[in-house]
Amino acid sequence: MKKVLFVCLGNICRSPAAEGVFTKLVNDHGLEKQIIIDSCGTQDHHQGENADPRMINHAQRRGYDLTSIARGIKPSDLDEFDWIITMDNSNYENVLKISSPKNQHKIKKMMDFSTDSQTKEVPDPYYGGPKGFEHVLDLLEDS
Ligand code: 4NP
Repeated sequence: MKKVLFVCLGNICRSPAAEGVFTKLVNDHGLEKQIIIDSCGTQDHHQGENADPRMINHAQRRGYDLTSIARGIKPSDLDEFDWIITMDNSNYENVLKISSPKNQHKIKKMMDFSTDSQTKEVPDPYYGGPKGFEHVLDLLEDS
């Protein structure tokens, strides 16, 4: 059993989408009993909320169901999860700050898994238009 946690800022756009894309991949490969998937934000300003309706709609068009309820990251997440995958450099630095040295090796950047070596971050789509949400999904699917 492995546990994977996706992390962004608000846990209403990028990390719920990452959770949805990865969950479908895991289910399609019949690995749902071996991999536990969750997401959270470095902030808890949206605690208890569903994913952003724009992110839900764009994801749904590609066949992903976003069911996450927003929550902030807890120090215990660092002990509990095996892989902690952050969306941008700011998320990465903020998670590193709350991690004890023994857990730092678990913290990764999503774009480290991408075939696109030029793009280093999954950009925050919150204040932009539809293209930003599609771009997020393109990057997540590739990674
Ligand atoms: P996320 O996007 O980190 O991908 O969930 C954001 C959601 C909300 C805000 C910023 C980014 N906000 O400022 O409320």
